[in-house]
Amino acid sequence: MANKIHKAVFPAAGLGTRFLPATKASPKEMLPLVDKPLIQYSVEEAVASGVDSVLIITGRDKSAIENHFDISFELEHLLKQKGKTEMFEQVRAISEIAKVSYTRQKEALGLGHAILQARDFVGNEPFAALLADDIVDSEVPALRQMIDIYEKYDAPVIATMQVEGEAISRFGVIDADEVEPGVYKIKDMVEKPAFADAPSDLAIIGRYIFTPDIFEAIDATEPGAGGEIQITDAMRILMRERPFYAVKLDGVRHDAGDKLGFLIATVEYALKRGDLGREFREYLRTLQLD
Ligand code: UTP
Repeated sequence: MANKIHKAVFPAAGLGTRFLPATKASPKEMLPLVDKPLIQYSVEEAVASGVDSVLIITGRDKSAIENHFDISFELEHLLKQKGKTEMFEQVRAISEIAKVSYTRQKEALGLGHAILQARDFVGNEPFAALLADDIVDSEVPALRQMIDIYEKYDAPVIATMQVEGEAISRFGVIDADEVEPGVYKIKDMVEKPAFADAPSDLAIIGRYIFTPDIFEAIDATEPGAGGEIQITDAMRILMRERPFYAVKLDGVRHDAGDKLGFLIATVEYALKRGDLGREFREYLRTLQLD
């Protein structure tokens, strides 16, 4: 029987260069989709998938993330005093969402290195890792879909989606055999291949379920491009020793760490909102787009 997944790690120590200048002094994980920071969406996804303990890997200039999941005493006091009960409850709920801890990655030495910082927190358990700038809009939470497959196969699972055409070159790509509809046993993976060399149209997206042996694999990983320790390289090492699966997520994924992806996600999420959607749709209809 597979051990239950109840811990999740959120690497959030990257520099966010694709979103400068907004990310010069503010974390990209705090960019709001409508009115909620990116990282709150993915923490909520993890909690809805059964996670109760969260570790956020932060770096310099990331204290806004810690403040966001903390109690904001003055704000809560003010909202209560003014009788804004609903807002008060909304703000309070953020600080009660899960047990949240933090650790720092002192240098941005890559995603593999960021995940390595979670070793003490994770101990000898399987765990999830979620990248907050990959937002997945789905009926069943993306991580839940992955945990179901993890529990069935008792092996690490990564998230994948189909990408048409040349855009595949912007992703890690898997070479895999489909073992049941939408579930793949991975043979190999390659980071950002040329279109002609891509082994499939299945891109890796920012959701992972790891077993604790990933840490030894990261230890054994040599720094790659830019001196960074890539998680893809660590996974390739581990894959030689144990089966590794991918699941095609049922839902729509947005790359909210990219300016265009962020704009698209903002429009999509705003249109779905009960309090804003109708007026926003009306406004969009007035735009003279040709
Ligand atoms: P990205 O490459 O998308 O993030 O890394 P980045 O480096 O912040 O952004 P760009 O590409 O320069 O715009 C994927 C995830 O890994 C984390 C990032 O915070 C992001 O969630 N990461 C990356 C770390 O935590 N540490 C690192 O050293 C690198």
